[in-house]
Amino acid sequence: MENNNVVIFEHPLIKHKISILRDINTGTNEFRKIVEEIAMLEGFEALSDLPTENVEIKTPLEDCMSPKIAGPKLAIVPILRAGLGMVPGITALVPSARVGHIGLYRDEVTHEPHEYYCKLPTNIGERTIVVTDPMLATGGSAVDAITMIKAKGGKKIKFICIIAAPEGLAKLQAAHPDVQIYIGQMDRELNANAYICPGLGDAGDRIFGTK
Ligand code: PRP
Ligand code: URA
Repeated sequence: MENNNVVIFEHPLIKHKISILRDINTGTNEFRKIVEEIAMLEGFEALSDLPTENVEIKTPLEDCMSPKIAGPKLAIVPILRAGLGMVPGITALVPSARVGHIGLYRDEVTHEPHEYYCKLPTNIGERTIVVTDPMLATGGSAVDAITMIKAKGGKKIKFICIIAAPEGLAKLQAAHPDVQIYIGQMDRELNANAYICPGLGDAGDRIFGTK
């Protein structure tokens, strides 16, 4: 489904892989691999408007003009920790991408995000920026991360997540209507602890095998 600045994927491969992520019996090894695969499938679509330029190529038969990706290198900015799990899926598509990091954690009681790290590639204002985080729950982390990127000059920003709650999507759209949002699956709601239901649990803990 596509709605202004939001793409909600309907591809059966993405749906199938999300079902494996949801399963309580899926272990860390498989979980991490599938997060990468979904990031690659979503990233393929999210990067469909990357600028190209025609360059001269010598084929075994003749010279021709053929398109290559143009402009400054892509910037991928995972929201730590869980967003890190999606980075290999995007670098598989764009190996030359630069990678920044934004460290945010949610307070367990207030569910408000707290910043602990921010390091972005140089010339961030000239790059297409892909922010990754598997979970868009209250939306607080995504909103703050993108606010931080804009404060450092970022302009062309895309946000890719795997599962979103309606509350988080509404908050992100209201705060950053210029950002393109890509969602693997819209879930029903948040519970009292601001976890997405049915969701997949704590994405960071499942990717890194903590807890
Ligand atoms: C999780 C998740 C998002 C955030 C989403 O991170 O990876 O960053 O929560 O919730 P929100 O939309 O309500 O802000 P968490 O704070 O648990 O940190 P972690 O990735 O280090 O586990
Ligand atoms: N963060 C997670 O990892 N999972 C949720 O359901 C909500 C926030």
